[in-house]
Amino acid sequence: MRFTKQWSFIGFAIIVFYSFGFSQKFKGLALTPPMGWNSWNTFKCNVDEQLIREMADAMVTSGMKDAGYQYVIIDDCWQGERDSLGFIHPDRNRFPSGMKALADYVHSKGLKFGLYSCAGSKTCGGRPGSRGHEYQDAYTYAQWGVDYLKYDWCYTEGLNSIGAYTTMRDALYAAGRPIVFSICEWGDTKPWEWAKEVGHLWRTTGDIIDCFDCEVNHGSWSSWGVLKIVDMRRGIRQYAGPDHWNDPDMLEVGRGMTTAEDRAHFSLWCMMAAPLIAGNDLRTMSKETIEILTNKEVIAIDQDSLGIQGMKFIDNYQGVEVWIKPLKNNDWAVCFLNRSEVKRKIQFDWSKHWITDDISKRTLDTQSIHFIVRDVWAKKNIGTTQKPLVGEVGIHDVLLVRLIHPQNVQ
Ligand code: GLA
Repeated sequence: MRFTKQWSFIGFAIIVFYSFGFSQKFKGLALTPPMGWNSWNTFKCNVDEQLIREMADAMVTSGMKDAGYQYVIIDDCWQGERDSLGFIHPDRNRFPSGMKALADYVHSKGLKFGLYSCAGSKTCGGRPGSRGHEYQDAYTYAQWGVDYLKYDWCYTEGLNSIGAYTTMRDALYAAGRPIVFSICEWGDTKPWEWAKEVGHLWRTTGDIIDCFDCEVNHGSWSSWGVLKIVDMRRGIRQYAGPDHWNDPDMLEVGRGMTTAEDRAHFSLWCMMAAPLIAGNDLRTMSKETIEILTNKEVIAIDQDSLGIQGMKFIDNYQGVEVWIKPLKNNDWAVCFLNRSEVKRKIQFDWSKHWITDDISKRTLDTQSIHFIVRDVWAKKNIGTTQKPLVGEVGIHDVLLVRLIHPQNVQ
């Protein structure tokens, strides 16, 4: 059946009618943190259908799809005008084949398709926002075959965030297509306290930028480097878990930081059980960038089915930070992070550290259990917890190990 204006309107009216009093978020769509690619970090408003097709192709040929990346997400500026009935259409010049055709293409690659909109009257880039059109837009996205919606927070004067995001959640549910709902109000109204039943992930912080530890001031707002974002929100890890994640923003891997910094950034995102949404140009990645983005052992730390967000355990141990994350089947991830401008030699005696996580109520018992220590970047076993770990952590780099419980060794 052709997607005519009249049919759209009738379908939309039926859905609204039947949905009253029956709404929730689609459950189980993000049992592990979502993985994908988003256009914003590299392309900003310069998006079109050819670019998105090429990015879907590259996600497959680069090995990213095999490593678990799934969503191809167009961020701001795909929108054209609303028609006389209020339905949104893509920018005709940039998306001449329409969104349904583009979604079909992405799906034909075995991938999923994502779009961006905004709770306000306009998007942050000044395109039509969804305010007052939530049910209509959700219905349209469902017709197009959208699988993921990032929903921003510009031009929202007078709006209540809980109400606005719940309205869109209900609209998506009413439209009937399972769509991951990504809340993007930058942590301003503490979504970790209210969004568990509203979205599948929520931004905790302002926009990321491709530097390790800087702030770039834009006047009324700033963008933040990797370490700034890591430091900005303390004490919210207990709010994250399967189907409801803290989102410290998209990845800047492959966008100009050093390889060590990219590795540290990626490791920290995995330790924090963050969504892994690449933001670089997938068509022109260096070997190092591909190796970072597709390291399956590192990704496994992020995608661990327990879904426990890791934490900083020691602030300063021989010049490095020590992070821990409990994993399934009694494994652990431990990350030594060197923020400094000098290499650090470390000697970490497991038996001298009683590592315990009050939130997940897990304890790392290296006294009675001898874990295998595996360097997941080097992809090799480097000893057991019976002996101190001796290593070197480069400038702005990490040493990331998985402690493998003996019961998990084949
Ligand atoms: C906000 C968001 C960004 C991006 C832009 C698009 O700044 O936080 O991630 O979506 O809007 O305009």
